[in-house]
Formats: sequence, structure tokens, C-alpha cells
Amino acid sequence: MVSLLTNLFLFWLSMHCFVAYLAHANAKNISTDQSALLAFKSLITSDPNDMLANNWSTSSSVCSWVGVTCDERHHRVHSLTLRNMSLSGTISPKLGNLSFLVILDISRNNFSGQFPKEICRLRRLKSLDLNYNWFVGGIPEALGDLSRLQYLYLGVNNFSGFIPQSIGYLRQLIYFEIGHNKMYGPIPQTISNMSSLKYIGLSSNYFSGTPNSNIIMFHI
Ligand SMILES: *[C@@H]1O[C@H](CO)[C@@H](O)[C@H](O)[C@H]1NC(C)=O
Ligand SMILES: *[C@@H]1O[C@H](CO)[C@@H](O)[C@H](O)[C@H]1NC(C)=O
Ligand SMILES: *[C@@H]1O[C@H](CO)[C@@H](O)[C@H](O)[C@H]1NC(C)=O
Ligand SMILES: *[C@@H]1O[C@H](CO)[C@@H](O)[C@H](O)[C@H]1NC(C)=O
Ligand SMILES: *[C@@H]1O[C@H](CO)[C@@H](O)[C@H](O)[C@H]1NC(C)=O
Ligand SMILES: *[C@@H]1O[C@H](CO)[C@@H](O)[C@H](O)[C@H]1NC(C)=O
Ligand SMILES: *[C@@H]1O[C@H](CO)[C@@H](O)[C@H](O)[C@H]1NC(C)=O
Repeated sequence: MVSLLTNLFLFWLSMHCFVAYLAHANAKNISTDQSALLAFKSLITSDPNDMLANNWSTSSSVCSWVGVTCDERHHRVHSLTLRNMSLSGTISPKLGNLSFLVILDISRNNFSGQFPKEICRLRRLKSLDLNYNWFVGGIPEALGDLSRLQYLYLGVNNFSGFIPQSIGYLRQLIYFEIGHNKMYGPIPQTISNMSSLKYIGLSSNYFSGTPNSNIIMFHI
């Protein structure tokens, strides 16, 4: 009997350790954030004012890096704000590992390439600002996964294609700007599902079914 109990206990203990091990293997921490930000830095091809070159150094905590803030509770990166710093390059998909990111603002730079769909893994994101860059290509369907998004600025880029249907899932979105791009196709009906929306800017695109689509600015 004692041996049966001992065996049961050992079995329980090993299962417990196994589950803990699995949880740990998938765990992200501030080191994940550091490697995500270093991957992001490595794809920056021009930084004429040396904003990141020396500052984003592994000899200091990511939480003290310029443009980065952390949240105290989780000790993870909370915001990345690199507005108007004359940066050029593409966006590393590893940015999708900043799982506690709430604010991402890289507006008014010279970033190019595609909108990395990995950004759509940032489930806590409330504000995404890519305004005034040189992004091209489509807006990923996975955009609808960003269910806490309140502010979405994609204006003045070279984005093209349809606005994804999934945008209707952004029930907390207040502000949506996509003016001055090369978007086309119909405005999806699902836009009426966005119950928090107060502003939508669609001007200077090639949308169909909206007369005067060059000047249209809905204020709902
Ligand atoms: C982060 O987690 C990895 C394993 O996933 C571990 O090796 C590392 O020491 C952790 N770093 C910190 C700062 O906790
Ligand atoms: C990086 O910049 C921040 C903000 O300007 C500053 O507080 C910090 O000391 C700098 N770190 C290094 C290593 O230069
Ligand atoms: C961008 O930064 C430059 C100087 O670094 C400044 O002159 C300009 O006013 C800034 N633009 C905006 C829109 O903030
Ligand atoms: C983008 O790069 C061009 C030079 O290629 C420069 O004149 C311009 O100021 C840059 N714009 C921004 C917003 O950094
Ligand atoms: C970070 O992101 C990349 C690409 O999305 C992924 O392959 C990798 O497993 C992630 N790393 C961690 C530690 O989560
Ligand atoms: C963006 O569109 C403008 C206007 O058509 C064009 O001159 C420019 O080359 C495009 N840039 C990129 C990066 O595609
Ligand atoms: C929009 O709302 C309708 C009706 O409530 C629902 O059937 C549909 O799945 C929703 N779609 C999106 C993308 O939110």
C-alpha cells in the first residue's frame, strides 16, 4: 500500500514537473523582448541621427533604451515609440514576440516593406501608428485578431488591396486612418460592426462604391 502511494506520488510529481517544464519552455520574458528589439534594430538600414546605434546596447536594460518603456507589473516592454527619427529599414517579424506591447508608434520615418502579419499576434495592442512611411502590400486578414485596438493609423503609405473583412472584429477601435494609400475595392460591410468607431479617414485611395472617394472623410 505504501509503495502504491509512493508510486502515485512520484507519478503526480513527475507530471507536475513535466507541465511546469512545458510552461517554462514556452515562457517569454524580458530576454525575449530584448532579442525581439535587437532583431528590429538589425533591420534598420539608416539611422542618421544615431538614435539607436549606441543607445540600444545589451549593457543596459531594454527598459532604459530610447523609445522603450516597460510595465512594472510584468517587467515586459509596454511601448515602443520611435516617431520622426529618420529611420529606414523593414520591420522584423520578431516584433510579434513583444507580447505585452500596448503602444507601437513608428510613424514619420522611412520604413518600407510589408506590414508583418506577426504584429497581429500583439493581442494587448491598443494603439498602432505606422502613418507617414513607405509600407507596401496588403493589410493582413489577421488584423481582426487585435481585439483591443483603439487607434489604428496607416495613413500616407503605399498600402494596397482590400480592407480586410476581419476589421469588423475591432469592436474597441475608435479611430481608423488609412488615407493616402493605394487601397481599392469596396469598403467592407463589417465596418458597421465597429461599435466604438468615431472617425474613419479613407481619402486619396481607389475605393469603389464611394463617390468622391478622394475627399471622403466619414465622421460617424
Ligand atoms: C528568460 O527565460 C529563459 C528560458 O525561457 C531563461 O533561460 C532566462 O534566464 C530568462 N531570463 C530572465 C531575465 O528571466
Ligand atoms: C539611452 O537613452 C535614454 C533616453 O534618452 C537615456 O536615459 C539612457 O541613459 C541612454 N542609454 C545609454 C546607454 O546611452
Ligand atoms: C521631425 O523632426 C524634425 C527635426 O528632427 C523637426 O524639425 C520636425 O518638425 C519634426 N516633425 C514632426 C511632424 O514632428
Ligand atoms: C526619408 O529619407 C529621405 C532621404 O532618402 C529624407 O530626405 C527624408 O527626410 C526622410 N524622411 C523621414 C520622415 O525620415
Ligand atoms: C520570436 O518570433 C519568431 C518569429 O515570429 C519565432 O520563430 C520565435 O520562436 C519567437 N521566439 C520566442 C522566444 O518566442
Ligand atoms: C509609393 O508611391 C509613390 C507614388 O505612386 C511612388 O512614387 C513611390 O515610388 C512608391 N514607393 C514605394 C516604396 O513603393
Ligand atoms: C459582424 O456582425 C454580424 C452580425 O452581428 C456577424 O454575423 C458577423 O460575423 C460580424 N462580422 C465581423 C467581421 O465582425
